[in-house]
Amino acid sequence: MNVAEGAGFSRYEVLMLVARLSFVTAIGFFSMKWIMNQLDPNNSQKRKAKQKAKEQLGKLAKNDAAVLARPIDLEQLTDYEMMIASHLVDPKDIRVSWENIAGLEHVIQELQETVILPIQRKELFEDSQLTQPPKGVLLHGPPGCGKTLIAKATAKEAKTCFINLDLSLLTDKWYGESQKLTAAVFSLAVKLQPCIIFIDEIDSFLRARNSQDHEATAMMKAQFMSLWDGLITDSSCTVIVMGATNRPHDLDRAILRRMPATFHIGLPNEEQRIQILELILVNEPVADDINIPQLARMTDGFSGSDLQELCRNASVYRVRDYIRNSHATRSGASSDDDVYHDAVRPITMDDLTTSLRKMKTSKVHTGTLSMAKLDLD
Ligand SMILES: Nc1ncnc2c1ncn2[C@@H]1O[C@H](COP(=O)(O)OP(=O)(O)O)[C@@H](O)[C@H]1O
Ligand SMILES: [Mg+2]
Repeated sequence: MNVAEGAGFSRYEVLMLVARLSFVTAIGFFSMKWIMNQLDPNNSQKRKAKQKAKEQLGKLAKNDAAVLARPIDLEQLTDYEMMIASHLVDPKDIRVSWENIAGLEHVIQELQETVILPIQRKELFEDSQLTQPPKGVLLHGPPGCGKTLIAKATAKEAKTCFINLDLSLLTDKWYGESQKLTAAVFSLAVKLQPCIIFIDEIDSFLRARNSQDHEATAMMKAQFMSLWDGLITDSSCTVIVMGATNRPHDLDRAILRRMPATFHIGLPNEEQRIQILELILVNEPVADDINIPQLARMTDGFSGSDLQELCRNASVYRVRDYIRNSHATRSGASSDDDVYHDAVRPITMDDLTTSLRKMKTSKVHTGTLSMAKLDLD
């Protein structure tokens, strides 16, 4: 008779007890893990980001333009890097190319030579320290003149990884998360290099630091700058930060120093307005009486997006006319679809000048155009 039997336990019962105990412990462990996962407030966000990052990286790997310099193992990326990777841009998804930008050939050419060429033909620039591409590029100028447009076209034409950094992604309600995400931006970019990090409206994030900054924001800014400096001192890595802003004076001086390549995208002059109007109207049905040079003369102080709006408005007039006419004819009881189709007349100079007059008045009222430029004839 052994001890276990003496205590009333058979060998079988002891084994069962151990088995039961380990079973309960395992269940407890896994359910605890599951509960902890569910309690993690970023859990679903992380899962979604992971899926999106996988999709984007998969798409980029398949892209025949060889956007990814080398295959990336998803297991190598941390959770934070995954979150950033979900904002990678696939050039195929972008419809804007250099041809969609009018009147800014000089900017485009300079951008191609200083930014894109050194990335694509790295070997040509390797022998000298001075020919390295700039680590920071700033596009600045009044709103609606094509800064975002240029950035989009760069993403399409550069054929490198392009991270469209959404700043809301970096801000997190948990202390310390923002800093980890900021660090992940740079560590991911280095893993994917050559890579362009684009920040639109950069002044909202990297504006001049002051004593009223929240502690977390101040830390994020400082960290961003020091990580960026890391890139600047490491000449072998090709990561470029590109920013766009219409308030360059609000930017921190330290940021301006890190963006040595600046491009001013100003309001278009008359020659540029002709080119923009031609581009906007090229595929539109226009009447023969359209005089683009005259229109360009009359739109002094208009930005590219104003010109776009001007033409859109003018184009709506003809549809409005058509609807009115068709109502009139329908009440006159004649119905033939072809007749209706023919009734949508092309855009005339009259439409454009009416639209221009309306826009000029509203621009003067909102203070975006000076009274002196209000020449209504
Ligand atoms: N040079 C240009 N050529 C063609 N379209 C332009 C040009 N500049 C502005 N636009 C029009 O204005 C819109 C707004 O331009 P965007 O680049 O977003 O302005 P911002 O400089 O404020 O970023 C564009 O979507 C485009 O339709
Ligand atoms: Mg913009």
